[in-house]
Amino acid sequence: MDNHLCEELAARYGTPLLVYGGARLAENARATVSAFGGSAEEPRVFFPVKACYLGAVLRLLAEIGLGAEVQSELEFHLAVRAGFAPARIIFNGPGKTDGELRLAVAEGVRAIHVESAEELLALNEIARSHGRPVRIGIRVHVPMPDQSLPFAGAGWKFGADVASGDALALIKLALQQPHLRLAGLHVHNYAQQRSAHLHLAALRHLHGLVDQVPDWTPDYVDLGGGFAPRSALEGAGTGVQAIACALRRMASAIAPTLWVEPGRLIVSDAAVVLTRVIRQKVNSGRRWLLVDAATNFLVPGPFSRYEVQPVGQIDGPLVDTAVGDGLCLPGGVLNRAAQLPATVGTGDLLAVTGAGAYTLNFGSDFGYPAPAVLWLMGPESEPVLLRPRSTPAEISDTWH
Ligand SMILES: Cc1ncc(COP(=O)(O)O)c(C=O)c1O
Repeated sequence: MDNHLCEELAARYGTPLLVYGGARLAENARATVSAFGGSAEEPRVFFPVKACYLGAVLRLLAEIGLGAEVQSELEFHLAVRAGFAPARIIFNGPGKTDGELRLAVAEGVRAIHVESAEELLALNEIARSHGRPVRIGIRVHVPMPDQSLPFAGAGWKFGADVASGDALALIKLALQQPHLRLAGLHVHNYAQQRSAHLHLAALRHLHGLVDQVPDWTPDYVDLGGGFAPRSALEGAGTGVQAIACALRRMASAIAPTLWVEPGRLIVSDAAVVLTRVIRQKVNSGRRWLLVDAATNFLVPGPFSRYEVQPVGQIDGPLVDTAVGDGLCLPGGVLNRAAQLPATVGTGDLLAVTGAGAYTLNFGSDFGYPAPAVLWLMGPESEPVLLRPRSTPAEISDTWH
């Protein structure tokens, strides 16, 4: 979006304003499908609905031919309503209820990924009463080469650990169940990866695991998500094509098909937040800009990365600037070290990029109303207001 358009939208709809760009989203999705392959009938790229609940986003991805990944009944309904047929949906999640398992079986999802022995036996019973075999995968957790990474170590709530032998035991138990057909393995350990390095390490562990089960070859390996946004991959001198090529080559030694569930890669850089500076200050030499977009919807987390850029012709040397919100929370910081011109100050417009994934639907009523959400198919298209800004009066009504 050019500066002029940003100023125009901010003036027309107010700030903070979350703007999704359909053209960028479609480009990211098509690039990912072209790299990993598959078709609308047999998808290999499954968008994790948790990354963005907006119908406009999900409908476009369904039209382009991706599958969907869901972790609950709510997300299953969001996906189906957006146009993903159940046969294009993977049902994941460490805490699926019996009701959710029954729903997944009755609707005929593409695969259910099982996380424990108890869940496996419950699903076998459901499949028996349903009268036809159910296709499943098993979620495993692989050791991480770098112990400082989140999810390093063992004993997480996700899946079964490969290193301890729990994954192998669960695979053997699954192969004994008469009403289940074990078709694949699923792993999702990472986030924000700018190279194929850790995903390749995961594939090596999966290879070792499958080698221990001589009479079984999986139909697919699902490597989950965990790739950086497309713009960040390109900034690091790589791209989805190069990463997919390396992963597909290694995965083919384990199973004929590779599936992925990329969220940030597809939707992160397809949205920006327009926000105005409310106050500026310097404290112990550190420069702060306090803005009207808040971490109630730009949720901070170990994996979130929000870049802040000036909008407009603002010259001057770049200075290290912390960009925070108005919440009384130490964590209410969008970027601790944005490089912004010294001339940017109170009343100026900023753009927060990388705002498309894990934002709005991760948000809460804490402190501020949710922002207005706009959909812009292309720079020349008429904007569509997907959600108006909620008002303090509406929110206080829900907390009576
Ligand atoms: C099972 C599963 N798959 C895929 C994803 C998507 O991850 P990312 O957005 O980092 O690609 C997640 C995110 O938490 C997940 O839990």
